[in-house]
Amino acid sequence: MIKKPLSQYTVQERTALLQETKEAYAAFQAKHLQLNMARGKPAPEQLDLSMPMLNALTAEMSMIAENGVDCRNYEALSGIPEIKALFGDLMGAPASKLFVGGNSSLELMFACVQIAFTKGIAGCPAWHTCDEVKFLCPVPGYDRHFGVTEYFGVKMISVPMLEFGPDMDIVQNYVESDPMVKGIWCVPVYSNPGGVVYSDETVRRFAALKPAAKDFRIFWDNAYFLHHLIDTPKQPLTIGAACRESGNLDLYYEFASTSKVTFAGAGVSALHTSELNLAEISKALGIQTIGFDKINQLRHVVFFKNADGVRSHMELHRQILKPKFDAVQEILEQELGALELATWSKPEGGYFVSFNAPKGCAKRIVSLCKEAGVTLTGAGATFPYGIDPDDSNIRLAPSYPEVDELKLSMKLFCICVKLAALEATA
Ligand SMILES: Cc1ncc(COP(=O)(O)O)c(C=O)c1O
Repeated sequence: MIKKPLSQYTVQERTALLQETKEAYAAFQAKHLQLNMARGKPAPEQLDLSMPMLNALTAEMSMIAENGVDCRNYEALSGIPEIKALFGDLMGAPASKLFVGGNSSLELMFACVQIAFTKGIAGCPAWHTCDEVKFLCPVPGYDRHFGVTEYFGVKMISVPMLEFGPDMDIVQNYVESDPMVKGIWCVPVYSNPGGVVYSDETVRRFAALKPAAKDFRIFWDNAYFLHHLIDTPKQPLTIGAACRESGNLDLYYEFASTSKVTFAGAGVSALHTSELNLAEISKALGIQTIGFDKINQLRHVVFFKNADGVRSHMELHRQILKPKFDAVQEILEQELGALELATWSKPEGGYFVSFNAPKGCAKRIVSLCKEAGVTLTGAGATFPYGIDPDDSNIRLAPSYPEVDELKLSMKLFCICVKLAALEATA
């Protein structure tokens, strides 16, 4: 391959590259691969790190929490004090302003939207009585967030993601002028999929919003706040601290979980918000369930001991994930760098690499990969309603495959990018 931008290729050079790329693609097809990098799942070795947690509790141990609650029994809807203290230390939030739930933070997000829809929050009418409810969706974003709001029939409005967070001029304009705008989805640290970390300035602008709707809430999903790939990660301002500064105490719901710390599907989730918001949510959740799994909460606390225990455990995750993310960067640069036909994120943490293909090529690339045995996240998934207006963004999820498989998948991916780009500009 000639090392220069594709736009500078002569007709003959393009023809040669097309031929070479078609042959490379056919060679991949002949391998009958069956590889999957569609979802950001932890790899088995990452899950193995938490296996000792299963022995953290024994039948001889006391199951009585600090406040006298028996973890084997009902009670303590919002979690035992020990797990609240742990999440509080990690999230920089007072333990008194935390609700620790079951195994999924997404479930808590869904609950918050559902409560607002069915009963209403902050003394405002239930959202189901409104003609239209709107949410802002920074794009590219997390498909399951968009899935929640689509389920409730919310009108989703895309907002471009910039280097340090969503375009705050656009956010502010919508939030402060339109009372039907009731929420925004945010992943402030290592956003899914772009890996963007919101700057303190962005966090402060969120905290200073003066929403037209009293029941507007920021859905601050801190799913990746512990998931660093670098030695000295940034320490972003917390939304809680920023909202205390601005006096906007009820403006946010902050979510986190140990899904990608211990076991995805058997971790512990947490919600941090104001007393008023907590009271509203606890009331509804207390009707839905008598309590969450406190034995799992205790198991996590005994296993980790404290916040430093969690941080050292995350360092072990980093050692597994870093070579995979490095391999993705290396192959993208090697195969596509000189051609200058695509851009991609270089995340310092989180679970994804966000790839921007030439406009109109994303669907074609995903289907070419699929035909050669590599499943990627569907093109469009990172946009509301699954529609990427540019048909350009593809979310790459390097965590699950082994390094060798990942390298193979990435080589095929780059071949498919070249093929699609050459076809599109033929
Ligand atoms: C941004 C984000 N939030 C939430 C989740 C799911 O979290 P949980 O397992 O706690 O429901 C994911 C999983 O990929 C995610 O990427």
